[in-house]
Amino acid sequence: SIDVSTFTRQTGHTALDYGFVNTSATKSEITYIDGDEGILRYRGYPIEQLAKNSSYLEVAWLLLYGELPTASELSDFDDRIRRHTLLHEDLKHFFSALPHTAHPMSVLSSAVSALSTYYEGQTDPHNPEHVELNTVRMLAKLPVIAAYAHKKSVGQAFLYPDNSLSFVDNFLKLNFGVHSEQYDVNPVMSKALELLLILHEDHEQNASTSTVRLVGSTGANQFASISAGIQALSGPLHGGANEAVLTMLGRIRDSGESVQRFVERVKNKEEGVKLMGFGHRVYKNYDPRAKLVKESADEVLRELGVKDPLLDLAKELEEIALADDYFVERRLYPNVDFYTGVIYKAMGFPTRMFTVLFAIGRLPGWLAQWREAVGDPQTKIGRPQQLYIGSPERNYPGTV
Ligand code: ACO
Repeated sequence: SIDVSTFTRQTGHTALDYGFVNTSATKSEITYIDGDEGILRYRGYPIEQLAKNSSYLEVAWLLLYGELPTASELSDFDDRIRRHTLLHEDLKHFFSALPHTAHPMSVLSSAVSALSTYYEGQTDPHNPEHVELNTVRMLAKLPVIAAYAHKKSVGQAFLYPDNSLSFVDNFLKLNFGVHSEQYDVNPVMSKALELLLILHEDHEQNASTSTVRLVGSTGANQFASISAGIQALSGPLHGGANEAVLTMLGRIRDSGESVQRFVERVKNKEEGVKLMGFGHRVYKNYDPRAKLVKESADEVLRELGVKDPLLDLAKELEEIALADDYFVERRLYPNVDFYTGVIYKAMGFPTRMFTVLFAIGRLPGWLAQWREAVGDPQTKIGRPQQLYIGSPERNYPGTV
């Protein structure tokens, strides 16, 4: 037997696979998905069990190290993360250089990239101590950067992290607390956010994770790889869909158009009209995360006492689409992003922060996948082939 690259070189044959629909670029031990059965497991544990019993940091540990942590491992990990939440004061000036209208995803990606400049000499991808330290640094600092991007966009002062609080509560306070005022974290919000973060922690070789692995395969450090992953996530076909769903629902409501009429326009493939939050490359029956998010949306809105007509609109849209042959034949179901925005909105996050929340959720997965790729002796620099279909050789005018 010969490997694929030798086969390609020797025979001149290559597979053309737009969107890598049928190409595995790696082996992985981290996440298992069965799209037909709607199964998602992290390191073998069903997502439903983790969502019910675990915490964001516990799942992060599981993804990074392969096993659930013991109580003392988890408490040490939590402590280490609390100790690294502060950003260098100089890095805060970075936010002043950006307009308050900057999209928080751009701010997040740029700030993560800038973060690496504070750790020159400590970012060697093959030095386990550096990798460990930067894993903790990123887990600790990304939520702080995200909250500052939010504060910047609403013109409020940045708060220092309150390390007496849990990871999620600290994040909520950084976003919604105001200087010198008491901020009491709402436990309903805290529980719901923890759940959403867990559901987003990993999803094997999606576009942003593949980006993180690809950048990592060049020998670039963790900060560079995660910064690129954040940008890949920002697109509306990927993580940006949660923002796009809310924009879509808002447009339907404001236009006064009926949901049925909107669905007709989707089916007619009108330019730029898609049912955002529907469809998935892998899940062809249902997205197990979407089921959990939908249950949470009902609970959170009820417990927070929020009545949001957009939730009713989303439910109507789902009901109509699921009964329509167009969506049934194409096996299009709500994905994880369909209901998350409604919850984030009820919590008080501006629409443009939604994908940032996804990025915080996905960070442990990106870090685990980066570590797996960099630590795998079989990893090669990612370098897809192409089929050249351009002009044959020709001469520059006047040369013959
Ligand atoms: N609305 C309407 N039609 C759709 C949708 C949708 N959301 N998604 C797919 N289709 C249709 C396509 O037009 C195509 O129809 P055709 O066969 O008549 O040409 C068919 O379903 C297959 O679609 P593809 O684009 O080939 O499916 P693919 O697997 O490449 O795309 C994707 C998956 C990108 C998620 C797509 O379903 C989509 O754009 N969804 C909306 C955006 C979204 O919600 N993204 C979030 C994904 S989850 C995540 O990243 C966390």
